[in-house]
Amino acid sequence: MMTLRGAKTRLFETADEVAAAAADLILAQADAAIAARGAFRLVLAGGSTPTAAYRLLATRDARWDAWHIYFGDERCLSLDDAERNSVMAAGALLARVAIPPAQVHPIPAEQGAAAAAAAYETRVRDALPFDLVLLGMGEDGHTASLFPGHAIASDPLVVPVHDAPKPPSDRVSLTPKALCQSAQILLLITGAGKHDALERWRAGEPLPVARVAAAGNTLAMLDRAAAGR
Ligand code: 6PG
Repeated sequence: MMTLRGAKTRLFETADEVAAAAADLILAQADAAIAARGAFRLVLAGGSTPTAAYRLLATRDARWDAWHIYFGDERCLSLDDAERNSVMAAGALLARVAIPPAQVHPIPAEQGAAAAAAAYETRVRDALPFDLVLLGMGEDGHTASLFPGHAIASDPLVVPVHDAPKPPSDRVSLTPKALCQSAQILLLITGAGKHDALERWRAGEPLPVARVAAAGNTLAMLDRAAAGR
């Protein structure tokens, strides 16, 4: 088993198995949160990795009326741009289940990074603590839109991001301070392209993903291709 500082890990044969296990964990966390507090506050990950898990979730039964959806980051693109994380999440999950629209909280990144971060800061503050935060990891060890070599502010919950190395350059991201205020963080990491960053994390490099993982109760679900095992 791969040991990643700050995270428990579970290794699966394939990305499809990661998606299935992730969907099961999300539903279990939802049941527990709804039973305890009557609501499930979930932060969605962007990128492509989580789409398989989102599509599986959309085929399952859940108390969707009690789900409240937030985003870990967003790209500063127009509302209907296919490259937006909110558009990806809508296509894979949110447009397919009966979560009340008023309970889906997209980051208003079309307003520009600074204005959107300021607006979402209040929304996140009012939502905390989250029940589950979903995150991916980039090939450089970034997570959400927290990139290596970029200073990560310790005080705000949400920050504007400029000069992001992964297009688009302007983004909005929750900070470790926000992401770790969750009962659990679930990292989904699949594909051989992520192996190098995992090895750097394992070797102790202070990557953004390592910093976030260490700040919370983190489980990383990996497939063999990413783990290199
Ligand atoms: C984004 C994501 C980003 C993503 C990683 C992994 O806006 O790009 O929030 O953090 O999770 O880059 O992306 P893939 O899942 O597509 O490899």
